[in-house]
Formats: sequence, structure tokens, C-alpha cells
Amino acid sequence: MAELLSGWKRTHYCAEPAQTEVGKEITLMGWAGTWRNLGALIFIGLRDRTGTMQLMFDENKLSGEQFKQAESIRSEYVLAVRGTLQKRTPDMVNKNMKTGEYEVIVSEFKILSTAQTPPIYIKDDLDAQEQLRLKYRYLDLRRPCMQDILITRHNIAKITRDYFAGEGFLEVETPMLQKSTPEGARDYLVPSRVHPGKFYALPQSPQLFKQLLMLSGFDRYMQITRCFRDEDLRADRQPEFTQIDLEMSFVEEDDVMGVNERFMQKLMKDTLGIDIELPLRRLPYSEAMDRFGSDKPDLRFGMELRNMSDIVENCGFSVFTSAIAGGGSVRAICAKGGVAAFTRKNIDELTEFVKIYRAKGLAWMSLKPDALQCSFAKFLTEEQIQKIQERAEAETGDIIFFVADTSEDVVYASLGALRCELAKRLNLIDPNKYELLWVTDFPLLEWSEDDSRFVAKHHPFTSPKDEDIEYLESDPGRVRAKAYDIVMNGYEIGGGSIRIHSQELQERMFRALGFTSEQAWNRFGFLMEALKYGTPPHGGMAYGLDRIVMLITGTSNIRDVIAFPKVQTASDLMSGAPDFVDNSQLDELHISTKCTEE
Ligand code: AMO
Ligand code: AMP
Repeated sequence: MAELLSGWKRTHYCAEPAQTEVGKEITLMGWAGTWRNLGALIFIGLRDRTGTMQLMFDENKLSGEQFKQAESIRSEYVLAVRGTLQKRTPDMVNKNMKTGEYEVIVSEFKILSTAQTPPIYIKDDLDAQEQLRLKYRYLDLRRPCMQDILITRHNIAKITRDYFAGEGFLEVETPMLQKSTPEGARDYLVPSRVHPGKFYALPQSPQLFKQLLMLSGFDRYMQITRCFRDEDLRADRQPEFTQIDLEMSFVEEDDVMGVNERFMQKLMKDTLGIDIELPLRRLPYSEAMDRFGSDKPDLRFGMELRNMSDIVENCGFSVFTSAIAGGGSVRAICAKGGVAAFTRKNIDELTEFVKIYRAKGLAWMSLKPDALQCSFAKFLTEEQIQKIQERAEAETGDIIFFVADTSEDVVYASLGALRCELAKRLNLIDPNKYELLWVTDFPLLEWSEDDSRFVAKHHPFTSPKDEDIEYLESDPGRVRAKAYDIVMNGYEIGGGSIRIHSQELQERMFRALGFTSEQAWNRFGFLMEALKYGTPPHGGMAYGLDRIVMLITGTSNIRDVIAFPKVQTASDLMSGAPDFVDNSQLDELHISTKCTEE
């Protein structure tokens, strides 16, 4: 019995009416939420994206037929109602509701659509499985908390566009169908119908096009754009995600960082009312690793890593000595109050936890009030134990955790993650605190065991530091980049660099990455050619918009901030993408696959 609007116009959103409308007739449209039938009176909460308004259906004020209809209303029916706004009696006021002082006495209404009982409750405190929520995402998105997140996301995008436009940035669109230039994550490919056997790639980022726009003279570019990366998904990664992407001409690192930290300051103020002090602190990459075991340290708490290698290198504990002898290190972290906080079972859990990061074990020293408890104490002198405690700044009641490995990467990754895990378990994280910083001076290249060659740490277009260019061939590992990441609360929310703007240097960079000149020209010829025709020095960065929205709305799940996200296996549980296609479609694309539909 879906009725038509037949000329009815909404006068207000549900949460809009206030004192000035009291006594007036208003027209609202929305979804029926909770309802209470008291016999002669029926109360229904009418919900739209602004909030909920209580409706009162009074047997004495409605025609018999309409009251009967009102009795048939169930949750999620779509209604249009006309009625008079009135103040609730003091005992009926609901302080938890924005509109809790008011209600609408319905004089006339239409049931625009009926609804089956939804498979999930439309309410904020929902304990339904995420799988079910994603299958019925359109219903999940009716929940006020989900709507609030997407409204905040809209506001963030708007603040972003306004800010960068105010700074002279032009929004320019770049292509979604691009040439595949694999160097980074795996590409999503799109087959060409017109060119048999050829493929486009969806952009991993607009990197090359924004550089070309600088070459064309646009000077300051920005774009809020979708990027696609076929990589392993995590809680803060999606196969398609959104970047706030920007590029500037005639700039150095400080210029890019300056514009961008003022942006973050404005964003935090306008969304959360939080004051961020500028300039943001800057931490060189090597220091970030050394102190926090991470290039995206969470600075809301301390618990820095300490290198114990020099103290233990000659002790008898082979776990430690062999790691150091093998070119690695022994580092430690002190958990304040760990003795009271952690049982043996907890320590076993933490040991399993560091193994995720390839640590072979977790050694520990527990400073119990009555005695020292430590499995390897027998290998240490009294003096060594003393020194360890001093360096860890440990006191009675603390536990010191150690990881030893021949690979520094393993030591950093496991202790860096342990540091965050301990902070969570020890309740050291203030959820209302926001700590922003720049991490700078990244290595330009890193050795890839898988590829047996150097790969770009950021991307191949990032400029080396002037003073390190001379080592590009002789000692590639020591070259630092003009690159910077912006980090908030342990998340890399953005990163960028000053680019190479000379063709010769770009060719040297490709050589350092192990490409022959032919391979480089084959893949990136259009860029190398372009660099010949007058290129301004330029640089920029890109933010992960989804991650910014996560942090500002306080969720740790990236799927919560994307209207229609994908799950870990990169599929969409609602529509069933990806899916098989008709053979005729494949034929048109000159494609045959090795897999068939079961
Ligand atoms: P980068 O690869 O560091 O740089 O990406 C920039 C930012 O995008 C976010 N991000 C992601 N967010 C969600 N899901 C993903 N799979 C994902 N991958 C990245 C991160 C990251 O900091 N073209 C360069 C930028 C530049 O040099 O200007 C680039 O894409 O927050
Ligand atoms: P094991 O000698 O293997 O029995 O280990 C003795 C203790 O050292 C155990 O508590 C292990 O968890 C710990 N351990 C083992 N390997 C390492 C390592 N690479 N780093 C830190 N602790 C370790």
C-alpha cells in the first residue's frame, strides 16, 4: 500500500524544528523507528539523517481510518506526516535526544512504503556481525552513527577543498584508465576491447599526471580522488581508497610541509575544535626507528625502545650474543607496572604477539618487589643487570621485554608493535589526544630480498638529498630522500616528496633501481620525454582521506568510513563483486580465463 506523495512537500528535517515552530503545522518525512502503542495513543520516532522526532498519533485527533492505518505502522515504514509541533510535558522530556523537548501531534499522514523486518537493528549499539552489516549495507547506513561518519567525511572533504582553493590550488582530474607502470603495489587491470591483448591499469595514485601538470604550468594542483591497489588488506587499507592529492611548483620540502601542516591545523580545529601547535615536530626516520621501532610512531605515550646490545654482547646468553654477532641487536622496552598488570599467561600471549612480526621469542626481566625474575639472569653479571635496569629506566614493579635478532628490521617491527600493544593493555592511550608529527629523511632506496635489487622506498620519482646524490651508484643504501610522511596517533595519514625534475637524475634513479635504459624508457618514456621540455622544481604529497576520517571519527576500522567498502578478500558482500561474466563479454575483450564458474 505504497502511497504517492501527491504534492506533499517536506517543510523540515526531523531534528530541525525548534521553539520557533511550536504551534505550527509542519511536514516531515522519514523512517519509523521505535513505536509504542498505548491503545488510544501511538508514539513513533520518525528518523531521517538529521535525527529523530517523536510523533503522536491520537485516536481522538485522527479519522478512524487513519488511526487504524497508524496501528499498522511497523519499524522502517517510510512515512510522510503533517502535524503540529508541540512542547512535551516536562515529565516526558528526553534529555538524550536533540529533539527531546518536542513532539508532533499528527493530523494526517501517508505510508509511502511498508518494510519487512530488517535483518539488522537500525540502532547505534548494534552487536550484529560485520558480515551481516556489510551484506545489508544500505540498512547499516541507516544507523545514526554511520550517517554521522559519512556526514563528517563530507565536511572534511569540503574543508579540504576550501582550504586548498584558498591557497591557490586548482582541482584537476586525472585519468582512471592509465598505462600500467608497476612499481609499488599490484595494479588492477582493465582489458581493452579495441586493442586486443592490451590492458589499462587503474591508478595507484595520480603521481605521474600531477607531475606532468606541474610541467604544464598549473603550479598548484589538488584533487580528491580514488586510488586502486591490489595489495593485502588490513584494518587501515582498502583496495580502493581516496587520496587528497596535491602538487606544487617552485618549492622545497619546507614549503610543502608548511602548507600542509596549516591544513591539518585547520582541519583539526574545524572538525574537533582541537588546537594543534605549529610547527609540527619533525623526527628523522632513523631516530623514529631507534626510539619507537616505527616510522609512524604513536606519540600519545612514551615507552621508548632502548638498545641493550653493548651491555649484553659478551654475556653467556646465546639468544642475545648470536643476534649481535650476526649483525643485529638486542633492544628492550620497559612496561611500567608490568608486574601487577601481566600474568605469565599474558606474557605468553605477548610472546605469540611478537612472533607475528617474525621475532623468534620475547625475553623478559620482571622486577618483582621481593626478587628479580628473569630466565636469563644467570647469564648476566650483577653489573649488567644494573645497567640494563638503568638504561630501561625500570623500577620495582616493572617488566623489561627484550627482542634479539640478526635483522634490525625484525627487532624494530616486533618491539614497535609490542610498544603499541603494551600501551593498549596498560591503558596508556588517551583517545581524545591527537599527536601529529612529520617523519623526514627517509632512505631513498631499500633492498628487496624478493626482487634481489633496490626498490624505491617511496616511489622512483622522489628526489635524493642533494648531499647524498653522489652515493647513488657507489652506496645506494645510504642515500636519503627528500621525502616526508605525516603521522597522527600511529597512522601514516599522508606522505610525499620533492621530485626529481632533471631527466639525467631520473635516468640515474632508474638505473639504481636495476632498470636498463630500455626498460626505463619503455615503462616511463612519457615522463622522461616530458622532463626534456622545461620542468619546474616541484613536490607534493597525498593524504589517505579514509584514514583521516577514521582518526577524526574515532574508529579503528577503515570500512566504517567508506559507504560501500570491501572485505579482507577485496569482495563486496552486498553486490557480490567480483563475479564471473558472460563468455560473450570475455570474447569481446579477447580474453579466455583458466577458471570456470563452479
Ligand atoms: P602513498 O603511497 O604514501 O603516496 O599514499 C599516500 C597515502 O594514502 C594512504 N593509503 C591508503 N589508504 C587506504 N588504503 C590503502 N590501501 C592505502 N594506501 C595508501 C596513506 C598514505 O599515506 N603518490 C604518492 C604521494 C606523493 O608522493 O605525493 C602516494 O601515493 O594514508
Ligand atoms: P630459549 O633459549 O629458546 O628457550 O629462550 C629463552 C627465552 O628467551 C624465552 O623466554 C624466549 O621467549 C626468549 N627468546 C628466544 N628467542 C628470542 C629472541 N630472538 N629475542 C628475545 N627473546 C628470545
